[in-house]
Amino acid sequence: MNYLTHLEELERRAELGGGDDRRRRQHDAGKLTARERIELLFDPGSFQEMDKLVAHRCRDFGMDEQIVPGDGVVSGHGRVDGRPVYAFAQDFTVFGGSLSETNAGKIVKIMDLAVKMGAPVVGLNDSGGARIQEGVLSLGGYADIFLRNTIASGVIPQISAIMGPCAGGAVYSPAITDFNIMVEGTSYMFVTGPDVIRTVTHEEVTKEELGGAMTHNATSGVAHFAVPDDRECLRLIRELLSYLPGNNIDDPPRRESSDPVDREDEALDRLVPESPNQPYDMHDLVHTIADEGAFLEVHRHYARNIIVGFARLGGRSVGIVANQPAHLAGTLDIDASVKAARFVRFCDAFNIPLVTFEDVPGFLPGTRQEYGGIIRHGAKLLYAYAEATVPKVTVITRKAYGGAYCVMSSKHIRTDANFAWPTAEIAVMGPEGAVNILYRRELETAADPAALRAQRVAEFREKFANPYIAAERGFVDEVIRPRQTRAKLIASLTVLESKRDKNPARKHGNIPL
Ligand code: HXC
Repeated sequence: MNYLTHLEELERRAELGGGDDRRRRQHDAGKLTARERIELLFDPGSFQEMDKLVAHRCRDFGMDEQIVPGDGVVSGHGRVDGRPVYAFAQDFTVFGGSLSETNAGKIVKIMDLAVKMGAPVVGLNDSGGARIQEGVLSLGGYADIFLRNTIASGVIPQISAIMGPCAGGAVYSPAITDFNIMVEGTSYMFVTGPDVIRTVTHEEVTKEELGGAMTHNATSGVAHFAVPDDRECLRLIRELLSYLPGNNIDDPPRRESSDPVDREDEALDRLVPESPNQPYDMHDLVHTIADEGAFLEVHRHYARNIIVGFARLGGRSVGIVANQPAHLAGTLDIDASVKAARFVRFCDAFNIPLVTFEDVPGFLPGTRQEYGGIIRHGAKLLYAYAEATVPKVTVITRKAYGGAYCVMSSKHIRTDANFAWPTAEIAVMGPEGAVNILYRRELETAADPAALRAQRVAEFREKFANPYIAAERGFVDEVIRPRQTRAKLIASLTVLESKRDKNPARKHGNIPL
């Protein structure tokens, strides 16, 4: 019996982590422990832990007296909705969840296995960073992880949850992964903390202001989701995974839906207001056409002039990209371009068809945008759409002006099905801007410039502010009734299931970063 007792003792110590006191402190701070998080992430009873008995090898600073089996990270694989997923959870109760040579080895091991098996990897981060006692061994461990994050990018989905501290170079693992979820109030991310900033730049800033959940969701765009607590964080990861394939070769899972594929909604016929400058909420369209109205919005708080996220149409996962006329009139600016480009590239890497809803008056004018490099950043979105080989379907609901017309998944950049509503306006620029340029001299000398301008604007609108010239050319495949949008999209996606398209062989393209 002795051998079993020994094993049980080791397992008990591994499960105890940093001990009752530190676990209580973890709970008092509003956080779950690493093991509680893992339990909530996976289907009940499905988690298979690996390396539970791994111990650190540090003998300095009295570390040989402090050995906790597992060494501060819980790692392994389990099932989420019956599908395999690999995960690690840093245990803040053991040396503050700090990364040692050996616990980095555990993380690297499951990342390598995830790539080999073609399964997503989820990282639950809660760590004081590099284990100070181990010096460069710990730094090397980080670099080993960063390399895996990079090699796995576009091969398996990688999701990071920030559920406590994540500071210094440690932030670069989540930064490379596909999605970052931050827990409000308990998580923060920064490269250099408030103390260093105070010394170097004399700025006073709190941890929360500098790197809290809302800072990274609304201001920096580093994080894609903000959640109120650990439970919601883990539920959200499960929901997100439900839209994604296990890897870049598989298709996303299908979920049977009782929502009729030909469901029409008359309210869509009245969605676009009479006045071309009046906003409306593009979310209404997205929710109306999606199966059961369900839409998982990504980056909800960031660059709200564009909407991105996942929905299902006829049971298939789709990535939605939609201009939002209710914010900055739906213009494309630097942040919106970068946000949408990254989302488009994620969907393309993982065989998720792209559905684009377009109502864009153009790129946002201004010195801030030009000096900030809107040329380079806007090009990212153009590049991302142009290189994407997944099924692509676009619906122009209203404005499709200028360069933004080309960028937003136009026919010319290999979009498979392009629809327009009768309210679509497709032109080089809006009628007011066009008239000011074309008729400047005439307007300067007119007896009644206001009346002349109104007349010319009306003429221009009559001629160009409609979808019919584009439809005559075949740049728009069909002008559809708004109420039929869901049916048209599903019919297109059904026929596009067999789409085969690929880019020429090359080491990699050179997206304007
Ligand atoms: C070893 C660490 C540790 C670390 C925390 N601990 N961080 N042990 N290495 N990096 C230990 C503490 O000694 C303590 O042990 C326990 O974890 C909990 O820490 P507390 O400080 O009591 O917790 P709290 O007050 O909540 O503060 C958390 C914290 C703070 C803000 C994370 O611990 C902290 O500032 N840690 C150092 C952060 C840091 O500078 N890391 C290096 C960053 S550079 P006991 O035994 O008392 O429970 C980096 C480079 C990455 O990471 C390189 C990649 C390229």
